[in-house]
Amino acid sequence: MAKSLKIAVLFSGRGSNLENLIRHFHKKRFDDNLTEIVPITNRPDAGGIKLALRYGLESIVIDHKKFDTREDFDAALVKKIKTISPDLVVMAGFMRILTPVFTSQIKAINLHPSLLPLFKGANAIEESFESGMKVGGVSVHYVTSELDSGEIIDQVCVKIEPGDTLQSFTEKIHRAEYSLLPKTVAELLGLRFNF
Ligand code: GAR
Repeated sequence: MAKSLKIAVLFSGRGSNLENLIRHFHKKRFDDNLTEIVPITNRPDAGGIKLALRYGLESIVIDHKKFDTREDFDAALVKKIKTISPDLVVMAGFMRILTPVFTSQIKAINLHPSLLPLFKGANAIEESFESGMKVGGVSVHYVTSELDSGEIIDQVCVKIEPGDTLQSFTEKIHRAEYSLLPKTVAELLGLRFNF
């Protein structure tokens, strides 16, 4: 019988990386493994909720505004993740700083749109583009309670070419994300993949 592997995907906004992960992994077979995505968001208005519904996937919503402290929100998130018992927890556009309540209990990976350790934080694409560097990039790293600072798992470079605008560079970054994140997820789960 096929072994079922659950991938919890945490998101806060548009959800294009969530959708990409759904396309690659939701109800997909890799040899004897059947993968499944469980979407989780901290924002009841996140665009990704509607995207996931197109694939028949209901998102779990834990609204951070309903909690008095970061720690209380993190505790609720940890409790939910533990009931799901996923094989991998992936943050794809999950815009929350996490406390040790979360990071001491859950091993998770995060996607970040820069060549870490450069350009941490919420404006990484713009800061990379305006840095004067000839390359930006995308990183996947382990999550710690220090923002965008855990051990780097994998990275790719994205060239900043003379004709690039912030918009064209942003599109290139997203294309790089749509390739790097699924590959990293598959590798971490030990799946044989050909994408
Ligand atoms: C992605 O570019 C991701 O790398 C970034 O948010 C975007 C989410 O887009 N994450 C961070 O900046 C984390 N510091 P999406 O909602 O369309 O997947």
